Formats: sequence, C-alpha cells, structure tokens
Amino acid sequence: MKANIDIKANNLEKVADILNTLLADEFVLCTKTRNAHWNVEGPHFYDLHKFFELQYEELDEMIDEVAERVRKLGHFSLGSLKDFLAVTHLSEDSHRFSDSRKIIQTLLSDHEAIICSIRQELNKVTDTYKDAGTADFITGIMEQHEKMAWMLRAHVL
Ligand SMILES: [Fe+2]
Repeated sequence: MKANIDIKANNLEKVADILNTLLADEFVLCTKTRNAHWNVEGPHFYDLHKFFELQYEELDEMIDEVAERVRKLGHFSLGSLKDFLAVTHLSEDSHRFSDSRKIIQTLLSDHEAIICSIRQELNKVTDTYKDAGTADFITGIMEQHEKMAWMLRAHVL
C-alpha cells in the first residue's frame, strides 16, 4: 500500500532507489567483511578475526535497517544477490582474501566509497526529494561508516 506521508510518489520512488543501492553496497561489504573474518592470516590473526566479526555484525544490523526503511516509504527492498550485484557501487573480491594489509585497505576503501556516495545523495534527499526522515537516517548510517573506517585506518601504519 502507498505511504501517505506528504512526500510526492515520484520522490518516494527516487529515495527508495537510493536506499536500495545503499542496501546493495552494505550487503556486498558485509560479505567481504565475512570473507576477511574467515580467511585472514598472519601474526595478528585472532585479533583481526574478532575485529572483522564485530564489523560484519554491525553491517548486518545496518542492512536490516536500510531494507526496512525502504518498506517504510511504501516500496519493496531488493532481496536477491543478483539484484544487489546489479546495482552496487562496490566490486566483489573472489580472489584469495588472506593478506591482512590488503584486506584492511580494500575494506577501508569500500567504507570510504559508501561515505562519499551517501554524502552526495544527502543533498538530493533533503533539497530535491524533501525526505527529512531518510536524510537523518542515512546521516546516521554515514557516521557509522566513518567510525568503522577509522577503526580500519588505525590498523594501517
Ligand atoms: Fe565466525
């Protein structure tokens, strides 16, 4: 059923598209972080294994919140791997993912890409589509990524 929340239908659709792309990015990054948790090797294995676990758990919660935000706007969230891969800004890592330095740099650049993409969309969501709720919501998501990016960056000397 259509959401009657004083936002034009066309604008709701545009915002739902932005959120679904964000959902796809979060899903790909969560999978890459799980890959890191499973396959990392090196002298700091245990600390990194636990650290990546905390990060994918946080991403997993964010995924649920983003998908449910799409539903709050009266649209359907994407829900298949094929759909996620079709719209994400990120690329998957299918190669061996065990070098801790390379893993951290890859994950860091993905978090930074998501931060930059949210920052770009924020102006449109606020000024063009007049959706203050989603603007506030994705600002919070951006701040979570900023913290996670800091945690990753602090590992790289
Ligand atoms: Fe595990």
